[in-house]
Amino acid sequence: MAVNEETLMWVEKYRPKNLNEVVDLKDVVESLKAFMRNPKTMPHLLFAGIPGTGKTTLALCIARELFGPNWKTFTLELNASDERGIDTVRERVKDFSRYSRAAFGNVPFALIILDESDQMTGPAQTALRRIMETSSRTSRFILICNYSGKIIEPIQSRCAVFRFSKLDPKAMVEHLKFIAEKENVTLSPEAAERIVDYAEGDLRHAINALQTAAVYKDGVIDEKTVQNVVGEVSGVKVQVMINKALSGSFIDARKKMYELMGEYGFSGSEIVRQMQRELFKMSFVTPEQKAELSNIIGEYDYRLTQGANSDIQLSALLAQFGKVGKTQGENQ
Ligand SMILES: Nc1ncnc2c1ncn2[C@@H]1O[C@H](COP(=O)(O)OP(=O)(O)OP(=O)(O)O)[C@@H](O)[C@H]1O
Ligand SMILES: [Mg+2]
Repeated sequence: MAVNEETLMWVEKYRPKNLNEVVDLKDVVESLKAFMRNPKTMPHLLFAGIPGTGKTTLALCIARELFGPNWKTFTLELNASDERGIDTVRERVKDFSRYSRAAFGNVPFALIILDESDQMTGPAQTALRRIMETSSRTSRFILICNYSGKIIEPIQSRCAVFRFSKLDPKAMVEHLKFIAEKENVTLSPEAAERIVDYAEGDLRHAINALQTAAVYKDGVIDEKTVQNVVGEVSGVKVQVMINKALSGSFIDARKKMYELMGEYGFSGSEIVRQMQRELFKMSFVTPEQKAELSNIIGEYDYRLTQGANSDIQLSALLAQFGKVGKTQGENQ
């Protein structure tokens, strides 16, 4: 399908092309601009933090700013979880080292962006460390990950580490208003806040919710629309699912889970996140149960970020809820 402005997802359409367009992250942007003023000073970088906060975006901004319109020639952008990842890196680094100095212009190195680098196995990371050492004259790396703890220490210590946490809600609201205006969508202030509330610092999530809400009622987004899209309706269903799981009706709970995935298009992580939120609203669940269930949710949330299969993990999570429901029942 041809990608044009009409069909483009808003998250892509409004992905910042340069550092000045980036929302929030002032300190990070300032440091990066300092490197850009004198590229020779740029170390390897490690971007770590929660999804949808601008890690990949900033890496691409850097590539554009360093190399201009031909940035792709001098940039290798790779998903590190790709099986052939490390071999590709090795080959391209070799290619880059064969380029003549003059080919690079003002920037004395090529750029290698390794997304999802926390998905690399230990041996792959050791190999990467080796490549970073031998290629330091001709290549700079930007490693991107959710958990820096999964990157081996010798690599971390070679990088300037930037941490990305939840984006500022006010800045997110402003950005949603900006997009709404560009798209001729009427967005009430309450609706904008509700979306941002729901997105919990993840701007990708917020923009996607905005786009979904815009289709819902012909370009007018009020709080009610937002609730229908992201909030209450699905919240009730999540509570029903938790209820069924706790009372041991595993099959019914699982049915609800598939409904949530199918009707609302929620991903596994989103459902887990909603389970956490809804759990604390459920008055008949005891504080002890809540603590134990939160613990379990945390475990499965982590597994999902590690790329485990959503369907299987959510089913297992519901089964764990059943166990907690059962033991608590026996204690009473
Ligand atoms: N700080 C930001 N400023 C402007 N837009 C942003 C920012 N963060 C995220 N976005 C929006 O969200 C989309 C996704 O951002 P990006 O791909 O940079 O997230 P990420 O941090 O790499 O997430 P992940 O960890 O899931 O890969 C972008 O295309 C952009 O529209
Ligand atoms: Mg990314």
